[in-house]
Amino acid sequence: MILSGRIPSHVGIIMDGNGRWAELRGLPRIEGHRRGTERAKEIAGVAMELGIKCITLYAFSTENWQRPQTEVSMLMKLVEFYLKNELSALIKKGIVFKTIGETWRLPKNIQTIIKETEEKTASNDGMTLVAALSYSGTNEIIRAVKKTMNSGKRAEEITEDFFNAQLDTAGLTSPDLIIRTSGERRLSNFLLWQSAYAELFFTDTLWPDFDREEFITAIHDFQGRERRFGSISARSNAF
Ligand code: IPE
Ligand code: IPE
Ligand code: MG
Repeated sequence: MILSGRIPSHVGIIMDGNGRWAELRGLPRIEGHRRGTERAKEIAGVAMELGIKCITLYAFSTENWQRPQTEVSMLMKLVEFYLKNELSALIKKGIVFKTIGETWRLPKNIQTIIKETEEKTASNDGMTLVAALSYSGTNEIIRAVKKTMNSGKRAEEITEDFFNAQLDTAGLTSPDLIIRTSGERRLSNFLLWQSAYAELFFTDTLWPDFDREEFITAIHDFQGRERRFGSISARSNAF
């Protein structure tokens, strides 16, 4: 498939279906997560090739802490492994790495690697790769409300720009396209405020099977959408 239209600046991905992918094959769920991590690496590479400026990967939600302790700790090991192994590659590729979410709830060693990766890649000028870790939109909004109330500003002074700057995504553009795999048609608390005008793409494919070709299909689908932002169609000649 050839892409000829506009490339979305920011793509958010809800990487869902790892557990089901493994269960369908009689494998432990963690094997699905391991394959999922490989996919995340691959898709980030394709995003960079396509000239996407920012990609946000939903890797672990605030609600995911409720999962069995064994699954949570194995997921944390995978995050640690991914970051440790990817750091030098990220620097080489010029990627800027960021995280959103309550990262202080993550194990200390992961926090250290995150801090190091963020610092070492901050001055890069390539694509921004945002990992949503221990993230939920409602939690992010509440924290932003608290920061706003502590800012000393009067209610009348609060603007959308000011509020945007209190969110974890401060400085990032809003997602143009949000992709969710695994057949679920919901946001599961992903980028709630920021997704106000995002185009949504749902696929039944489980995340470990989501490949380059399907990613390009999603971008192609996006290119066929007319984004009106509440206005009327540019093609409309009603008057
Ligand atoms: C997504 O896969 C990854 C995380 C939420 C960490 P799941 O683990 O939710 O996979 P399913 O939805 O159970 O198949
Ligand atoms: C959303 O998937 C979170 C991530 C992909 C990290 P979940 O599997 O946790 O969402 P629900 O439970 O199906 O809504
Ligand atoms: Mg799931």
